[in-house]
Amino acid sequence: MRTPIIAGNWKMYKTPAEAVAFVNAIKDRLADLKAAERVVCPPYVALPGVQAALAGTDIYVGAQDVHWEKEGAYTSQISAPMLVGLVKYVIIGHSETREYLGVTDEMVNKKVKAALAHGLHPIIAVGESLAINEAGQTKEFVDRQIRAAFAGIPADALSNIVIAYEPIWAIGTGKSATGEQANAIIGSIRATLAELYGQAHAEAMRIQYGGSVKPANMAEFMSQPHIDGALVGGASLQEDSFVELVRIAIEAKGLG
Ligand code: PGA
Repeated sequence: MRTPIIAGNWKMYKTPAEAVAFVNAIKDRLADLKAAERVVCPPYVALPGVQAALAGTDIYVGAQDVHWEKEGAYTSQISAPMLVGLVKYVIIGHSETREYLGVTDEMVNKKVKAALAHGLHPIIAVGESLAINEAGQTKEFVDRQIRAAFAGIPADALSNIVIAYEPIWAIGTGKSATGEQANAIIGSIRATLAELYGQAHAEAMRIQYGGSVKPANMAEFMSQPHIDGALVGGASLQEDSFVELVRIAIEAKGLG
């Protein structure tokens, strides 16, 4: 059984003080919901405060991106060694970084390698645009993204990696894929992983769905066999809805 993982991707929301207040407000409410792994991914500047507020809990912290170099003349960037001790997870290849920051498949692969080399656990995000979806090219496109992201990644690193399938047309639009559509693509991602690493490794990997996930549609996604959790933007920013997402995931997986 794969442990479901619900990660809140806060994007560019919440000041450091707001972030700490948020995790202080939810940590006791999440204490009884241990059957799913819970992760919050605040902006970089909030990481130290959030990490300190969650120390001693089993709620994990993630960063939203990482550079592949250890250090250097890369104005604005944050490296993996800088995140060590602050986060367990790091989101890599989110479509907003691919679109606005020019992150390519090759960079995603370098970021994954850098994260793993420093003991961080990548959440690798993949997903197609509306045009690719409407052209019926989703499986092929996502397959290429997965192969590129995992180039040179050894099988023994897989247990430290999570994948998030996020169709770009469903992010922040209120327009989510159906549970069945998402399950089909995530099943095809698993098939690609099986080709690369063998069936047992593919079955063990956790693959989230993301894109306009909210309490009202969470059960639809979580009741699908291939979907192991969610990467959630908007609905992760309110205390009640984040706690509710975790509760629904546990219930839908029959773990509650
Ligand atoms: P959303 O964002 O839940 O607001 O659609 C998801 C994401 O971008 O990770």
